Amino acid sequence: MTSDAVVWPRSAGPLTLRPPTSADLDQVLAWRNRPEVTRWLLRTTVDPENFRRAWLESVGDPAQHTAVAVLDGVVVGTGSLDVRDGMRQLDGDAWRAAEGLLGYLIDPAHAGRGYATDVARALLGLAFGELGLHRVTAGCFADNVASWRVMEKVGMRREQHGVRDSWHAELGWIDGYTYGMLAEEWRAGG
Ligand SMILES: CC(C)(COP(=O)(O)OP(=O)(O)OC[C@H]1O[C@@H](n2cnc3c(N)ncnc32)[C@H](O)[C@@H]1OP(=O)(O)O)[C@@H](O)C(=O)NCCC(=O)NCCS
Repeated sequence: MTSDAVVWPRSAGPLTLRPPTSADLDQVLAWRNRPEVTRWLLRTTVDPENFRRAWLESVGDPAQHTAVAVLDGVVVGTGSLDVRDGMRQLDGDAWRAAEGLLGYLIDPAHAGRGYATDVARALLGLAFGELGLHRVTAGCFADNVASWRVMEKVGMRREQHGVRDSWHAELGWIDGYTYGMLAEEWRAGG
């Protein structure tokens, strides 16, 4: 599947998702490194220029679908869907680019309004729609309740509770969750 098959912009509840521009990323960088945002991220503080370059380079890459979430001209969040091979035996090629890894961030000033849920649902629609993926997963620290609530609200299943499997810079080894959804579960209504 090439990135040509992907239609932007796309709606996510009241938000519009579209590929980022450099000006959009200025808005993201205004909040991306705040402690309340980085607290539960694996990639904590980012270098602004590396972050900008990586996001701009991702535009048009069939293995990386990145978007900013815009409301009334303001970038209130980001979403990403990385496409990768599924776990496999090497026979055949059904496993190639069969799986998506979902991610989302919301500006703390706009949190608690269902926006991450809107972004996640729209990216699942992309994954199981145009991209025709077999499965989507996402992970978080178990203490990141807002994040796993989002995954449950969009109908993903908790597939793994990793006991003290995740390293946190301040808290040490703590629990992590992995959630998943199959295409047939999405088609059945999540
Ligand atoms: C986690 C994050 C994406 C949530 O975004 P959001 O737009 O506020 O999420 P939503 O409003 O769609 O849903 C959040 C849900 O979590 C719930 N929630 C939030 N904080 C909670 C808490 N401390 N305890 C229990 N539930 C909580 C909300 O009530 C809501 O559930 P509900 O609709 O059933 O009431 C956002 O806070 C964020 O970007 N945080 C920093 C980065 C991050 O952690 N990203 C995820 C990495 S895995």
